[in-house]
Amino acid sequence: VTLDFRSDNTHGVSPEILEALARAGHGTMKSYGGDAVTERLRQRCAAIFEHEVSIFPVVTGTAGNALTIGAMAKPWGAVFCHDEAHVHRDELGAPELFSGGAKMIPIAGANGKLEAEALARAIDNIGLHFGRTSCVSLTQATEAGTVYTPDELRALCDVAHAHECRVHLDGARFANAAAHLGVAPAELTWRAGVDALVLGATKNGALAAEVIIAFDPTLEEELAPRWHRSGHRMSKMRFLSAQLEAYLTDDLWLRNARHANAMAQRLAAGVGNVIQPVEANVVFARLPREIAGYIYYDWTIFGPDAVRLVTAFDTREEDVDAFLAAVRQVK
Ligand SMILES: Cc1ncc(COP(=O)(O)O)c(C=O)c1O
Repeated sequence: VTLDFRSDNTHGVSPEILEALARAGHGTMKSYGGDAVTERLRQRCAAIFEHEVSIFPVVTGTAGNALTIGAMAKPWGAVFCHDEAHVHRDELGAPELFSGGAKMIPIAGANGKLEAEALARAIDNIGLHFGRTSCVSLTQATEAGTVYTPDELRALCDVAHAHECRVHLDGARFANAAAHLGVAPAELTWRAGVDALVLGATKNGALAAEVIIAFDPTLEEELAPRWHRSGHRMSKMRFLSAQLEAYLTDDLWLRNARHANAMAQRLAAGVGNVIQPVEANVVFARLPREIAGYIYYDWTIFGPDAVRLVTAFDTREEDVDAFLAAVRQVK
């Protein structure tokens, strides 16, 4: 029974992904990513994103973000991101470590989103003694559960490229954003100007798998050695790739995300006092009282009564409805 709205990280694994892992467990295969599963995954990513790609599977989003930012930013570089960005607040300096010391420049913006004008101002304000502009990091869906439209992404990427920054997209919840918008993945990435995406799977049904997808071909030679020497090039890579291949087969990634998003809409419609637009699988609301029997996190950066409720691929309608009934009881 799912009584847990803490995070999509607290949920289990899609059966399709476990079955793919079991299938990948037979026989021998070339190690360190030279296997057939990893090659099929690369081809699938190229087909889904309609672009030639190099791929680097990793076990955590933090690794994917830090390696990608590290590949884009010089040690003396400046990396621009939203003030609430996971890369800034939740990775204990991993992007700074992997870049050899680049400076994160957090920028405020409503609803978890960076705005193109604010980004341009922040970049223009960087003096040569402060840091050299090198990277803009965006999150899709954002940490506030909102989603950038293709036009918003393009405007941000245009500012970045006009200032010699490459664009990293933290896609821990990219599937939820793509499912919400219903547009081609290319529209949310390279066609808008994104140079590399860290596509999340763990929060949306995988066991532990994310993949760096580089659209800019010059990033491959920057990423490959960093991926290896930081210990993220798994010898039995097929087990990471098998999870990701299953995730991207028969639209599992989008089916899982559509369900999680629908559960968030159901939750938002009934809970009341919602404080951010609900566009993915995360609901922020004011809940003055604890709801016994349910677990979720307080989110005090949005105010003293604010809580975050996260739904997942296996959140059940009846659990949402039972939670809403419990909320009505205490109101
Ligand atoms: C926006 C965002 N980026 C990245 C991550 C990935 O983190 P982890 O290193 O735990 O996989 C998370 C997980 O909470 C996240 O919310």
